[in-house]
Amino acid sequence: MRIGLLGFGTVGSAFAEVLAASGNEDVRITHVFNRGVERKRGHERAKFVATGAVWTERVEDVLEAADVDVVVELMGGLDPVEGWLRAALGAGKHVVTANKQLIAYRGAELFALAAEKGVQLLYGAAVAGGVPVIPGIAQGLSGDVITRISGIVNGTCNFILSSMEGGADYGEVLAKAQAAGYAEANPSADVDGFDARAKLCVLARLALHAEIDPEQVPAQTISTISAVDFAYAKELGCTVRQVSRAEIADGVVSASVGPMLVPKTSPIAWSRGTQNMVVTSGRFGGDVVFSGHGAGGHPTAVAVMSDVRAIAEGSVQVRLPAKKMKVVGDVVAPHYLRFVVADEPGIVAAIAGSLAKVGANIDSILQHRGFGGDRLPFVVTTEPCLSSTLKGAVAEMAAMKFMVEPPVCLQMLVVDDRDTD
Ligand code: HSE
Repeated sequence: MRIGLLGFGTVGSAFAEVLAASGNEDVRITHVFNRGVERKRGHERAKFVATGAVWTERVEDVLEAADVDVVVELMGGLDPVEGWLRAALGAGKHVVTANKQLIAYRGAELFALAAEKGVQLLYGAAVAGGVPVIPGIAQGLSGDVITRISGIVNGTCNFILSSMEGGADYGEVLAKAQAAGYAEANPSADVDGFDARAKLCVLARLALHAEIDPEQVPAQTISTISAVDFAYAKELGCTVRQVSRAEIADGVVSASVGPMLVPKTSPIAWSRGTQNMVVTSGRFGGDVVFSGHGAGGHPTAVAVMSDVRAIAEGSVQVRLPAKKMKVVGDVVAPHYLRFVVADEPGIVAAIAGSLAKVGANIDSILQHRGFGGDRLPFVVTTEPCLSSTLKGAVAEMAAMKFMVEPPVCLQMLVVDDRDTD
């Protein structure tokens, strides 16, 4: 099996190392495509690429090579990569990719093309890096009817939030994640939820058999979360994590991505560092938890290598056809509202008035002593209600004259102990 590797960055170079360590002599890299190829040849992991391999800055050298059976794409992004992979599939080459955006947005067409050409398109590294959630769902859980997936699929956000839980500063940890190579080239893709929602859509296609448009999934940023949220969350028996969740009920998919309050009793709260965690809920098999390293070169390279091996062994994929479905971003959940105000009498009354107007019922009000009056943080939690119900109230409250910064409104995850027979 001869591999044409597109991209010799963090994951590409780690893949070369993992392949070399496998001792599998039937699989070898014959071509490497990258910009600045001379610099890449000097990379400390270039020694893991067989001597005699072609290093090139012309992608056609790989796509048109007769001695490439599998194109392994580890560059990311939609354009120009989509065209390259279409060309590879069209030329009868198998494709292995870690490209979540491409599989989320263009997967349906690409799978159809692969099927038409009788080749495989595998993407186990696209979600949760080294955690085999994709083959786990495709093979191990294809016998169940999965109704919900939830969890943590962005390592950078988990690294940031779990470090903040331990007292670290947002900006400093983000810089560390970037230096370590976990973060996307543009960290907004991580912190604003776009990376996670692409991954959620990839999982929804596989687990819920629902083809959903990532653009329809509401994504909320984690950049508004501050130390005070962890302090109040702790008081509520919770912590804060970026959670991605999708559920199908009565033919409707509800999905969202964003920072949520997670009870300390939920496995999702136990994830630390770049760990990813996906919980699938099946009608017959109940909950299954997948967890491990979700970002970084070596863990992701393991998933890529596993796909390459599957192709080399001629393994057959279970077909799980998906239907196009619309997404409802709204969910019924208790909500956490955090305000920072310039203190004056009547603030609680004004906020309570806004919530009463939309029919949201207050569950608790938390206010720690000892903050200065010009930046006083406090928290209100609500009984379960539709997120959309709160939208109007939050907009009204944001405009109140004592509000120092926009209110932060987070869903609170409820641990349900739905059991199977
Ligand atoms: N930026 C991604 C993350 C890399 O932090 O999870 C893996 O997809």
